[in-house]
Amino acid sequence: MKKVVVLLMVLGLAMALVIGCGGKSGDNAEKSQEAAKPQFTVNLSNGEAVFNKACIACHQTGVAGAAAITDKARWEEIAAKPMSTLLEHAWKGYTGKYGVMPEKGTCMDCSKQDLYDAIHYMMNKAGVTPNEG
Ligand code: HEC
Repeated sequence: MKKVVVLLMVLGLAMALVIGCGGKSGDNAEKSQEAAKPQFTVNLSNGEAVFNKACIACHQTGVAGAAAITDKARWEEIAAKPMSTLLEHAWKGYTGKYGVMPEKGTCMDCSKQDLYDAIHYMMNKAGVTPNEG
């Protein structure tokens, strides 16, 4: 009788391990999906804080080819691209026809969520609607 109980416990442990590992690979699949399409909820006040901390250096007045926050035409051109593309450009850096957008907009401790919020904040200020693709 005792042997059966031990056997059941061993079986239970083995199952827990299998399920545990299964869960992990599921997480990874979710992560790669996240990279493809942003699943964040916009937080404009965080976006304003991030803007004031980093993006302001170039995007306030349009330094070095950056779109000024008041330049609606430039932001309309930017907003024509899907948000997932813009987020990747802000995250990894991007060289376009106007100049060089540095990796993470120089905010090295910013998360993707922070950049996402800052992009929405700038579009909101410029009066354009983001393309949430
Ligand atoms: C050192 C200057 C600089 C800073 C700081 C900066 N940017 Fe930029 N950014 C640029 C320039 C220049 C471009 C234009 C690139 C082009 O289209 O040629 C740009 C373009 C962009 C674009 C449009 C990308 C595209 O695909 O058209 C986004 C979005 C953006 N910046 C977000 C941010 C955010 C968010 C921050 C702050 C976290 C930030 N930037 C900080 C210089 C800067």
